[in-house]
Amino acid sequence: MRIVAHPIIEDYQKGPLVQFLYNGETVEGHAGESIAAALRAMGVRIHRYTTKQHKPRGVFCAIGRCTDCVMVVNGVSNVRTCITPLEAGMTVQTQFGLKAGDGK
Ligand code: FES
Repeated sequence: MRIVAHPIIEDYQKGPLVQFLYNGETVEGHAGESIAAALRAMGVRIHRYTTKQHKPRGVFCAIGRCTDCVMVVNGVSNVRTCITPLEAGMTVQTQFGLKAGDGK
């Protein structure tokens, strides 16, 4: 079950299956769909942990407003995965605090 249209990503499309890295594991999603949609299809619900209380967060608004879905993408922290299209070869990591592996 995947979304077929998105209010923010204009040319949202379910492209061909591509591989990307999720926390070091090779997984698949459709190019052009949001990273969050690809992760949700895999059963991933936790995208980040909060800085002070280490509480899990995942997709909340799905339109790029709340930042609950931010992850480290291609080494860049705070990428809103609900509005970032998936591309082949991307590296996607759970974000801890302000960056991957931070834990603070
Ligand atoms: S879920 Fe709110 S910004 Fe992505």
